[in-house]
Amino acid sequence: MRTEITLTRPDDFHLHLRDGAMLEGIAPETARDFARAIIMPNLVPPVVTGAQAAAYRKRIMAALPGSNFTPLMTLYLTEASDPADITAAHAAGIIHAVKLYPAGATTNSDSGVRDFDRVRGTLEAMAQAGVPLCVHGEVTDSDIDIFDREAVFIERVLDPIRRAVPGLRVVMEHVTTQEAVEYVQAADAGLAATITTHHLLINRNHILAGGIRPHYYCLPVAKREVHRQALVRAATSGDPRFFLGTDSAPHADDTKESACGCAGCFTATNTMPVLAQVFENAGALDRLEAYVARYGADFYGLPRNTGTLTLTRQDTPVSFPRRIDTGAGPVTVFEPGIAVHWQVTARA
Ligand code: NCD
Ligand code: ZN
Repeated sequence: MRTEITLTRPDDFHLHLRDGAMLEGIAPETARDFARAIIMPNLVPPVVTGAQAAAYRKRIMAALPGSNFTPLMTLYLTEASDPADITAAHAAGIIHAVKLYPAGATTNSDSGVRDFDRVRGTLEAMAQAGVPLCVHGEVTDSDIDIFDREAVFIERVLDPIRRAVPGLRVVMEHVTTQEAVEYVQAADAGLAATITTHHLLINRNHILAGGIRPHYYCLPVAKREVHRQALVRAATSGDPRFFLGTDSAPHADDTKESACGCAGCFTATNTMPVLAQVFENAGALDRLEAYVARYGADFYGLPRNTGTLTLTRQDTPVSFPRRIDTGAGPVTVFEPGIAVHWQVTARA
């Protein structure tokens, strides 16, 4: 059995860093282990223009003094987005992708898209300029069961968009279903998916059986066990179309432990040790590096990182901080619910 692995320093292709006191408190949790991350633009108000992305990037760097972490900025797609601003910001290296939230699908998504025909021109300009579209893949119709919203989105929204704008490069973010895995596997070039850390570990029972556990509630909501197993197979298969996007999404504990709790799991602190354990349990430790440090960079056309991260296996299970104190309140760290024997022992 392997007791030490050294990986190329990983990237997180889906991350929420927030702003202000929360940003200051949680940014170091990602920068400790990761070289780069795709930064989600769902602030209030959202990051819509290249100038706003550049300003947000500065605030992130100010929260990480002395760090060589690179935030990869994104813009929030609205029906009023300016295609010229998007392609200019991309050409200037200010942004790396544009995020599509169906209006009302998740945290801070009110400015999202209602009528997909209204963003067709923007998507065509992005396809031409090679700007990837990151998609929150859930419909929001009140008559669609929340556990079916991802599968219905593929059929009603994603597939029609991809047919209408053929050259568009798309990342289906935080896939949670076997249907999404199969859709990505069946596609030709230009479609990839991120998988979170928590969706490799929890199914819907973790949220609801024996008491309601708000720290396991996120969107898309975790599905049945068969879906979790499909995600583990996809992540550990060595298929380059699946790569890590933690969707680490901090909310202060009082906003999660509430009569109407916020969606989001905070996994930045312990993602790498937890993933090492998931891959080891699947007999796929040798595939971890590509999943966290190669496939995503390749899809986004980024050079691979030069630094390394070493994880060491110990006999007794490791424990992690239970919460991170921030100026915006304490944030509970994801509890993986399995024995984790790995910890990060060197960063170079
Ligand atoms: C995210 C957040 O809190 O910003 N929440 C979540 O449950 N994943 C938004 C998102 O990615 O859906
Ligand atoms: Zn997210």
